[in-house]
Amino acid sequence: MDLHESSIVIAGGGSTYTPEIILMLLDNLHRFPIRQIKLYDNDPDRQKIVADACEIIVREHAPHIAFLATTDPETAFTDVDFCMAHIRSGKYEMRDRDEKIPLKYGLVGQETCGVGGIAYGLRSIPDVIQLIDYMEKWSPNCWMLNYSNPAAIVAEAVRAARPHSKVLNICDMPIDIMERMAKICGFDSRKDLVVRYYGLNHFGWWSDVRDQDGSDLMPKLKAYVAENGYNLEPLGCEPRMNDEDWRHTYRFARELYATDPSVLPTTYFKYYLYPDHVVADTDPTYTRVDMVKDIREKEVFSECERIAACGTSEGTTLKIGVHASFIVDLACAIAFNTHERMLLIVENQGSIPNLPETAMVEIPCIVGSNGPEPLRIGPIPWFQKGLIEQQLAVEKLVVEAFFERSYQKLWQAFILSKTMKDADVAKAVLDDLIEANKDYWPELN
Ligand code: NAD
Ligand code: G6P
Ligand code: MN
Repeated sequence: MDLHESSIVIAGGGSTYTPEIILMLLDNLHRFPIRQIKLYDNDPDRQKIVADACEIIVREHAPHIAFLATTDPETAFTDVDFCMAHIRSGKYEMRDRDEKIPLKYGLVGQETCGVGGIAYGLRSIPDVIQLIDYMEKWSPNCWMLNYSNPAAIVAEAVRAARPHSKVLNICDMPIDIMERMAKICGFDSRKDLVVRYYGLNHFGWWSDVRDQDGSDLMPKLKAYVAENGYNLEPLGCEPRMNDEDWRHTYRFARELYATDPSVLPTTYFKYYLYPDHVVADTDPTYTRVDMVKDIREKEVFSECERIAACGTSEGTTLKIGVHASFIVDLACAIAFNTHERMLLIVENQGSIPNLPETAMVEIPCIVGSNGPEPLRIGPIPWFQKGLIEQQLAVEKLVVEAFFERSYQKLWQAFILSKTMKDADVAKAVLDDLIEANKDYWPELN
């Protein structure tokens, strides 16, 4: 069979994740052939570090693929079939503010959760919508696979403002945990599992996990998670050995599991269910962004610079993003109508009948060339429904606040966040974040 060759633009070309995604695309050319890869970023200097190395990698692995890096949207978005979007509006400089300002008030400071996540959301909304508009102007048939964060708020904004655009919002966290579940059960990969999962992005639970024969894997998984969370050190195959922060997060899933042993949680509930523990555990002068800069950014960028200086990627320490393979799965499902079952962030529309129709929920979908067909989850229990509705109201209010330029609604979103204490604390931290984000947020009335 002759497979159509795709042209791809990676938006946020200067991302630390770009090299692993390029390596993963090159490793999958047999099932997802490519004729062109473009990198697009609005920071030419940052992108150049990554692009110079990626150009060499592409030339060495697949010289037939045309490669270019640009900051010009027309060049980037003309003649493309897929836009893989992973931009970080405001870059690490603003992630630093998102994490450290809330901590001054004793609140969780996190990339996608709580008020820091809301701050990031208000920066991402206009930038992601701009990418969609570029894509629709210059390549109207293109699909955007978006994992720019905070994915829940971005997905809600896209639903509200660009309801007909071809945008699929995705997250690697369930994938990452499912890889761990597979290891716990003695399987090779997440592809050996069939799951039922529901929630909002970074706010979901598995209610059922089976193998391909239909055998229930929940008892085995529950026994492991009750003891170790999703940390794989006891099995001797923990993939994040160089990152104690993530290992702690996986271990902490044990405490999250205890809140409802009928399901298996994602790790992000630690920020909502144990905020005081998280704050007490955080050094307010050295937060996650500092670790990312000291670990991931340093490793990736210094290796990119080494490749560019040597003119070859031979012996590189850059690794294929195995978790990123779901991006190829998704692109294949669209390009070749594979009808693969995947977790996506889609409009509820009755899949969970006791949640609003317009909620952007993360649930299994069958994906083919006309997009995702969400599966029916059915009614969910009170505990999950209550938590989800509160967080959903936060996300809806943030998006309404953005489009209506409403200070009042944004303050309400802050008050409603489960990570919040009093309304006056909410107001103080909001005013601080408004000042810090004045180059990014719209003026609020
Ligand atoms: P990064 O800062 O290293 O890279 C982001 C790049 O985006 C930067 O080069 C920056 O210049 C560029 N950028 C910012 N605004 C832009 C705009 N308007 N147009 C074009 N380019 C722009 O960040 P990172 O740590 O590599 O993460 C990238 C993004 O991917 C973040 O949003 C992160 O949260 C997200 N992410 C999401 C998932 C998921 O599960 N959904 C997983 C991993 C990373
Ligand atoms: C997971 C989440 C992403 C998030 C990332 C943060 O992969 O799914 O949405 O961006 O973690 O990781 P970091 O190492 O940057 O803190
Ligand atoms: Mn995510």
